[in-house]
Amino acid sequence: MQNLHNPSHPCLRDMVARLRDMEQNASQFSATVAAIALYLFYEANDSTALTAKTVRTWQGDAGFDYLPQEEIAFIPILRAAMPMLSRLNEFYPEAVTGFLAMKRDETSLQPQLLYDRVPDLEGKRAYILDPMVATGGSLDDAIGFVKTKNPKKIICLNIIAYDKNYAKLSQKHPEVEFFAAQLDEKLNENGFILPGIGDAGDRAYNTPW
Ligand code: PRP
Repeated sequence: MQNLHNPSHPCLRDMVARLRDMEQNASQFSATVAAIALYLFYEANDSTALTAKTVRTWQGDAGFDYLPQEEIAFIPILRAAMPMLSRLNEFYPEAVTGFLAMKRDETSLQPQLLYDRVPDLEGKRAYILDPMVATGGSLDDAIGFVKTKNPKKIICLNIIAYDKNYAKLSQKHPEVEFFAAQLDEKLNENGFILPGIGDAGDRAYNTPW
């Protein structure tokens, strides 16, 4: 599918491989997740039109081209996406942020939406952030929810996705762009991606398995 993107730059592959290493502590893990998020954002904007703005430079006023931050909305799926959001917010502080708190039931593997706080997204490019796409249920529900807010475009930034379900999602939502840093080929009976990285939320926040 043309809307499924899997960039393969060596620096990106290196960052994903670091996440596989359980010796990475929570701080290292989160920093790597954050770095990958910024990389995926760059990839997702490789043809975005810049807008001219006049700024005060050290030699007086002059015009330069900038990303139209007022068009950007970040929608992290709590909680594993929080390290992704923190780096993107640092670099794009004029973007708006909406929140979706979702928890996958450990037995049924069905996602539950526990809390939402997403503004109207008219005219926005909405970036849904989630490091993991396993069954795809959480991202599917998130896309459905974000669509109700009428963004002009939806882009999903994901770190590791189970390849078959990611492809199904991209077919189900042909108008959405999907960027995954890594596609893994297996899903176990507990809904964990293999080889994967374990539970990204637990690893970022030192909660038990
Ligand atoms: C994980 C992950 C995704 C979801 C993926 O979150 O961050 O949101 O599961 O699974 P799916 O594709 O099968 O729906 P989890 O529910 O474990 O919550 P957490 O972010 O708080 O760890």
